[in-house]
Amino acid sequence: MVNSSTSEELSFSRETPDVYGDAHPKALLKAIQEDGGYLKKLSSQHIVSCDQFDRQELLQLFRLAAKYESNPGRYSTPLKGKILISAFYEPSTRTRLSFESAWHRLGGDIMSITDRSTTGIAKGESLADVAEMFNNYGDCVVLRDSNEKSVQEMIESLRIPIINAGNGIDEHPTQALADLYTIFKWCPELLDDTKDIKRKIKIGIIGLPNKMRTVRSLLKILAYFPEYFEEVVIIHDKSEDAIFDKEQREQLEESGLNLRLSNQLNSNLPELDVVYINAIAWVGNDYESFGERFILDASSPLKSGGIIMHPLARGDELSPDLDHTPHNWYFSQARGAVFLRMALLTCMCERTELVMDVI
Ligand code: CP
Repeated sequence: MVNSSTSEELSFSRETPDVYGDAHPKALLKAIQEDGGYLKKLSSQHIVSCDQFDRQELLQLFRLAAKYESNPGRYSTPLKGKILISAFYEPSTRTRLSFESAWHRLGGDIMSITDRSTTGIAKGESLADVAEMFNNYGDCVVLRDSNEKSVQEMIESLRIPIINAGNGIDEHPTQALADLYTIFKWCPELLDDTKDIKRKIKIGIIGLPNKMRTVRSLLKILAYFPEYFEEVVIIHDKSEDAIFDKEQREQLEESGLNLRLSNQLNSNLPELDVVYINAIAWVGNDYESFGERFILDASSPLKSGGIIMHPLARGDELSPDLDHTPHNWYFSQARGAVFLRMALLTCMCERTELVMDVI
């Protein structure tokens, strides 16, 4: 006997639970005027770093993501006939499966490689040669590789777009896009230009900007919209000169971001509208855990109405006892990433005209 559960115990609901946060994708449709021209510009670029965007491209991407999220069943074929090469040489739950889910939801087909040793790389084949072959087999590549330089090595011979899905400790641009998309859905007033007094928020980031690709990329994305952030507090347990790469802090501050460093968590929490926490960095072929001192749980002095974000996977730093509180926006963040990736993939495959209201 495998189990003796009753049908009541085995019943489940298909409704998205309340713990997914009260997101407002439709509010983004109102706040951002559609302009597909910016999305067309994106279609001729590889996606490697958060440095490469401009504000209007980001807003249009978020608008298209919100359009997909507001009406998930409406567009099921924009990528019909297109093939994605999904190459993940490092463990992933969310990024690989959400990219693949996004592609499937848009009607495309997928070839997936989850172990580089099943390709010619195991026989010494260069990434440039592998990329040359990819040109013949697919229409877009999504690559996760712990080697920071792999994405650049492939670009040399690619004639189809590649998306960096995490390259070592360097960047994770689509995670950062999904993160800011989440913040705008949670607080669409940020985008409301009609008010005399503009809403600003305080965000705390528990993590290391020079070691965690999610944090590095998030800061770069926030730097496009410095006026929305009253303060960005980096909460860390290192010496101050050990948390930024050379010039990283200066570049962020030059953009207008108001950065503050702190090695205290609980004294900052009551002031923070958004708490972004991550404790893991992939270094080489393994992960290192940082910030064991900083743990969020249901007893943490979080601001009423404040939200928690986490790129996941989580460890002890984020207690499951927060999952059923209104502070939990990390599940909504992961869910929204599917729509954000749908928007990006539509651009990469030059299919935006199929989903624009006005052409
Ligand atoms: N957020 C993120 O990169 O998760 P995965 O490692 O599961 O892809």
